[in-house]
Amino acid sequence: MTTSTTVTAQPVRTRLVVLTAIGAMLVCPLTFAQSAAATAGPSGKISPVAPRKEQVQAIVQEAYNKFKNDTRGKNADYIPELGKVDSKLFGIAIVTTNNQTVSVGDTKTAFSIQSIAKVFSLALAMEEQGADKIFDKVGSEPTGRAFNSPVAVVDMPTHTGNPLVNAGAIATVSIVSGKTPEEKWNKILGFYSRVAGEKLTLIDSVYKSEAATNTGNKALSYLLAKYDRIYADPFESVDVYTKECSVGVNALQLARMGATLANYGVNPATGEQVVKRENVPEILSVMMMAGLYDGSGKWAWHVGLPAKSGVGGGIVAIVPGKGAIAVFAPPLDEAGNSVKAQEVIEYVANRLDYNLYSPASVGLK
Ligand code: DON
Repeated sequence: MTTSTTVTAQPVRTRLVVLTAIGAMLVCPLTFAQSAAATAGPSGKISPVAPRKEQVQAIVQEAYNKFKNDTRGKNADYIPELGKVDSKLFGIAIVTTNNQTVSVGDTKTAFSIQSIAKVFSLALAMEEQGADKIFDKVGSEPTGRAFNSPVAVVDMPTHTGNPLVNAGAIATVSIVSGKTPEEKWNKILGFYSRVAGEKLTLIDSVYKSEAATNTGNKALSYLLAKYDRIYADPFESVDVYTKECSVGVNALQLARMGATLANYGVNPATGEQVVKRENVPEILSVMMMAGLYDGSGKWAWHVGLPAKSGVGGGIVAIVPGKGAIAVFAPPLDEAGNSVKAQEVIEYVANRLDYNLYSPASVGLK
């Protein structure tokens, strides 16, 4: 029985992958190519903006060499387990919308996804309730304050701020449907795994460490309750939120999660439409405004790409239609964003004309 399932399922999956790859190349000829023919459009012309895989590999390697000895920043240690992670770990991965990959360094080492998880619970909540309801219940205003600020909850007219700060993310988790917190958590983990194209799991030691120290997040959840801006039990919502932040990913998986957003919600490796196509622009807009918290303005100025950071040391940046770049390097700056990851993404984005606000990003030189 197992054999017949495998035999019949395989061609469908293969067809899906092939169709998606063809679709990606037709709809978006801007992904980088292994050969000139792969980027030639219907006119036979080669896309003026598609860098070659060898060129991307070389630039990523350059970035790795340039920043690998940068020792600025410090591991997060308010979650004690994160303070124990080797600060020298450093990996860079790119996955394109036509599923090509480039990776340098520690791209297979699992680290906790932390706040990057917030992007994908937002996607799940939007999937279930639609963009308008999530906008009403959580909002989309940058707070200009630290990611865990209780002052923002008091000050902001929406109280929740946006789905990428802790308060807004806890509210977003509270919206995800499920009869029990367990059911909610399993749904979230299953969803993340489909976005990554691989089964993801909880890093239990990180979860226990954060669960034992997250009094600030519990306080945020109770403040939200005061303003009627949390939609399930506050502490149960914080617990599911803490679990989602403790999911383990590596840089390659994270780049694939980003590439799924770059690819209109279709995972470039499995061909599955995981995130609703119509929700992608809104998700990317919040990432642009709040993905690096009170470092988001500086990031937009220098890099011009929607991105999300996590205190585990990861950052993923999305290049719509082209792919995503994920970097893992634990030491963080004051705002809680990986120092090396910011440096690398800025460098690669500049070299490859990825800044969305530059006409060069669509091939105008
Ligand atoms: O709730 C927290 O504080 C962490 N689980 C996540 C914070 C985070 O990753 C902020 N990111 N830069």
